[in-house]
This record gives sequence, C-alpha cells and structure tokens, in this order.
Amino acid sequence: MIPQTTASLDRPNKPNAVMGSQAEAILERMNIHYDTALEREMAPLYTRVQSVIPPIEWPFFAPYIKAINQLKREKNAVILAHNYQTPEIFHCIADVVGDSLQLAREAAKTKGDIIIQCGVHFMAETSKLLNPDKKVLIPDMKAGCSLAESINGADVRALREAHPNVPIVTYVNTSAEVKAESDICCTSSNAVAIVNAMAAEFGTDEVLCIPDEFLAKNIAKETNIKIIAWKGRCEVHERFTAAELQQYRADDPGLVIIAHPECAPDVVAEANFSGSTSSMIKWVQDNQPTRVLMVTECSMSDNVAVENPHVQFVRPCNLCPHMKQISLPKILEALVYECEEIFVDEKVAKPARRAVERMIALA
Ligand code: 13P
Ligand code: SF4
Repeated sequence: MIPQTTASLDRPNKPNAVMGSQAEAILERMNIHYDTALEREMAPLYTRVQSVIPPIEWPFFAPYIKAINQLKREKNAVILAHNYQTPEIFHCIADVVGDSLQLAREAAKTKGDIIIQCGVHFMAETSKLLNPDKKVLIPDMKAGCSLAESINGADVRALREAHPNVPIVTYVNTSAEVKAESDICCTSSNAVAIVNAMAAEFGTDEVLCIPDEFLAKNIAKETNIKIIAWKGRCEVHERFTAAELQQYRADDPGLVIIAHPECAPDVVAEANFSGSTSSMIKWVQDNQPTRVLMVTECSMSDNVAVENPHVQFVRPCNLCPHMKQISLPKILEALVYECEEIFVDEKVAKPARRAVERMIALA
C-alpha cells in the first residue's frame, strides 16, 4: 500500500480526470507551442531520438520537453530517471539516468533543491531518505512495484523472530518501513557482495534475502551462503519463460540473450549474461552484439538503441505498468505545483536510511 502524502491531498485543483488539460494549460501560460521556431530549436534533440520516437509523437512531446527543461533550471530541480523510463524522459529531460544503485548514489550527492524522481515510489522514498531536507517529488504517487507490495514491516519482524541472528538483506525495491526493519539494503548490482559481506560480519552461513524470490535464488547460485528467500516477484520479469527464450534461439541461432536477475533462475540460465539494468546496458555497449534480446522491461531497449545504432534489438515487450505511470505532462505538473511530495516519518526514516547508507558505503 503506497502511503498517501499531505502534499498530494493539497494538490491544487487537480483532479485526475483533467490532468492532461492542466498540463496543456501550463504550456499555454508559458506560451510554448509546437510551431516552426520550436521545431527548429528542438531538431538536434529529435535527430538523436528519431529512431525510437515516431515523428507523429514529437509535436506532442517537444513543447513539454522545452517547458520542463526551462522550469527545471529556474527552480534548481534535478530529474533522476530509471533506465525503464520512456525515451522522451530518459534522453530529453533527465539529468541523471541509471539503475537503482546509481540513482540512490546520485540522490545522495545532488545539489538540486528539488528532486523529481522519474521511476517508482520506492525510488523516490530512497531519495528522500538520503536527502531529508530536500523536496522530493514523484510525478505520480500511484507508481508502485509488485515487489514492494509483497512485504511489510510486520512480515520482516516475524522473519527476524523466526531466524534470530540471521542478517536481513533487503532489496531496495521495498518501502521505507521494510528497509527500517532490515540490516542492510542491496540492489541487483551489488547483491552477491552484500550477502557475502553480511554473512562474514554476522559469522553465519545463512542470510535472509528479501523480498524477491527469484533474485534470492539467482544470488544463491553465486555464493556458498544458504539463502532464505521471501515470496515476492517482479510482475514484469516473472512473465519471461525459459521455453520462450529457447524458441527465440531456435528461430535465430545468432541471437544474444541478456537477462535481469529478477527473472526466474531457469530464464537466467538461458542467457549469455545477467546483471542489473546498467550492467546490461554496459554489456551491450562493450560487446556490440549484432542482435540482442534484453530480457527485462521493454523501454530499456529503446533507450539503449539510441546509443547503439549498429545493434538490432529483439523486443518481447513486457512493460512495467508502474514505471509507465510517469509521463511528460505529469512531470511538468509536478514541477509547477511541487505536488506529489514524498514524506517519510523520521522514526522510520532513521533506521531505513542507515540500511541504505550501509549499502552505499559497502558497495
Ligand atoms: P535495477 O535497475 O537496479 O537493475 O532494477 C531493476 C528494476 O526492476 C527496478 O525496478
Ligand atoms: Fe517493480 Fe518490476 Fe516494475 Fe521494477 S519492473 S518497478 S521490480 S514491478
């Protein structure tokens, strides 16, 4: 359950049904329209993204991009965007892009007064934990995550009681309440190192690795530590099957497959490489495969394609409905009204911050 914030209730005169028209009214007030002058001004940017944004969509996006970039400078706001955001966000307005760990690190060092998190709620909450004095906004408070929804603080307390003296390593895809009950956080890019470090620190050969069941099983294959898992799943990655990947390979023997570790272990076993979203991007940049299937959220292939024009992307398009709640009109509204603000009670924030900071220090 995503906590409701005071700020979202205070949202000025902004019922969901008229959200599009609110954003259009802002553009009207700023006198930004798609005309020949704007078309010319934005042409270099469009040239960069034209392989993934159809020409019919650009006249809609361009005025929002112009307005957001202008307001961002005026308000000293910084836009952090996850690798799963759509290309017009990822390539045209984001100041920082990356995987969960990179975004958490950048959030910890940002100089902006306002952070706009283009991603899901737990990411914005992590930014707030690391920047308690800054205004952290998420363009849509409903952008959740099936992993974060799978567990709450009481579940973690029960696990601790059932497994005393076993360290609890919690994936960042969780609420602050869950992080607060944990010994440390991890992301997909540092999970194995964190599990090994915690086992050594606690002097144990068992570690609780929650809440992603598949990530836990994939970590277990890379360590001698006994991993105790929870039953959470990413609703995007759990949809991929080993049989589907075998079929892709049978149809195209030259195809390279790279998979995110939130996929089931038999899916990861079919892949040539597995890693966090940023490791997958780096793998493509470094290896320049002729044809690649990125077994992860669908927008990422578009984002990577822009910078790797010689690589062909095979796309079974599994979209994350939560990531896709974020759009240019909602980002513009968040910037203008400074609404959809994230608050975390300091009683929860303090231990949750410790778990995230410990991870950043260790990673
Ligand atoms: P990473 O970007 O850290 O690999 O996480 C993937 C993901 O599913 C985030 O929601
Ligand atoms: Fe959560 Fe999966 Fe969506 Fe990432 S892709 S936000 S893990 S549901």
